[in-house]
Amino acid sequence: MKAVKIGVLGLGTVGGGVVNILKRNAKEISRRAGREIIVTHASARDLTRERICDTQGITLTSHSLDIINDPEIDIVLELIGGTTIAKDLMLQAIDNGKHIVTANKALIALHGNEIFAKASEKGVMVLFEAAVAGGIPIIKAIREGLSGNQIEWLAGIINGTGNFILTEMRDKGRDFADVLAEAQALGYAESDPTFDVEGIDAGHKLAILASLAFGIPLQFEKVFTEGITKITRADVEYAEELGYRIKHLGIARKTDKGVELRVHPTLIPERRLIANVDGVMNAVLVQGDAVGPTLYYGAGAGAEPTGSAVVSDIVDIVRVLTGEPEHRVPPLAFQADAISDITVLSSEQIQTAYYLRLSAEDKPGVLADVTRILAKHNISIEAIIQKEPLEGETTLPVIMLTQTTLEKEMNAAIAEIEALSTITGSISRIRLETLG
Ligand code: NDP
Ligand code: HSE
Repeated sequence: MKAVKIGVLGLGTVGGGVVNILKRNAKEISRRAGREIIVTHASARDLTRERICDTQGITLTSHSLDIINDPEIDIVLELIGGTTIAKDLMLQAIDNGKHIVTANKALIALHGNEIFAKASEKGVMVLFEAAVAGGIPIIKAIREGLSGNQIEWLAGIINGTGNFILTEMRDKGRDFADVLAEAQALGYAESDPTFDVEGIDAGHKLAILASLAFGIPLQFEKVFTEGITKITRADVEYAEELGYRIKHLGIARKTDKGVELRVHPTLIPERRLIANVDGVMNAVLVQGDAVGPTLYYGAGAGAEPTGSAVVSDIVDIVRVLTGEPEHRVPPLAFQADAISDITVLSSEQIQTAYYLRLSAEDKPGVLADVTRILAKHNISIEAIIQKEPLEGETTLPVIMLTQTTLEKEMNAAIAEIEALSTITGSISRIRLETLG
């Protein structure tokens, strides 16, 4: 049978990783796909740049349009990133009848609804396994492996850069900026690394996972996002003293009132497996009503882990190339006419427990004022510890763990506590999930 021809747009970390895998494992891959798969063309901005892959036998161009307009090419890999040029090229390629594989979570999260509609109209496939959790086949697991379940909630460490930073800060006491620079050098970080550290990248991925899990449209704009930039070493140490680890989690939970979609640093009991996922590794915990809890773990970023996911999508496309379009697996797991419009809850409607750290004056009655305010807002305290003042400071760090409460009540309580004359500065708040 005729070989399947691939055109790669973007030959950086992921593009290079994909080419290496397709070349090195060519035989094994074609045994699985049933056809030979060859990369015939690739594009990049600067053709003089040294590549991490062997480009022998590949026609290189700086004009991606040459690739998407080439009638010989069957599958286009969009590995440029961003939501401007990549979007235009992808839509044009779909229009030209090309099947697409992408690792671009920003593009899928922001414009996926439009892209899938266009792909369905043109009868082509758009696959994006690499867009969430790098090499972990989490999209396939939710879309296919768990399709007998009602997914109740999922929670994941879905940004490798952020997890790498938190781990290095905790284990080696390294500086935030220094670890971020290393993540960039290793090719883990986004071209704009604020996407990693401010939770935007994880928000993109969570929007995708929630859509697949609950059969709802992609709604990144409704995801509550908070990054890791405000986490201090002291928070990490206090959390450990209380038996918790701080992880940056994406959480999607279906409740009677709607769906919670949130990304933020979270205290997790240290006995949970996911609390021990370190470095660039990602993990996603998915709770289905039939299967119970399931955990997926693997490298969340990097050339070949991400390339592994891209290649699996290529193999899937090659396998179904001869099938009827309407019998293909739907991109967002649910049939397009069965996507539901369950409400996504606002951040004030979220229910979770909290870790609070405040600086209090060492005077009688201060803690009584704080607990009175919490009680007024129906917030129960689970644990409280008062530390010695830090060197050179007169105020005492007070750390509290609360029971589950409504975010709206916590916002109001924090505002009242911060207004007390005996409390200095703002309160550090980290959400806490037992993930039981
Ligand atoms: P890189 O920056 O390493 O690579 C981007 C590539 O796109 C480069 O080769 C660049 O060319 C090329 N490029 C940029 N603009 C154009 C253009 N206008 N025309 C043609 N080529 C262009 O990014 P990554 O490989 O890290 O990321 C690619 C995608 O994969 C992104 O969507 C990212 O979010 C996603 N992703 C990345 C992961 C990772 O671990 N890095 C993991 C999972 C997903 P040149 O090399 O000449 O500059
Ligand atoms: N910048 C992303 C991360 C790449 O660090 O997780 C993988 O999506």
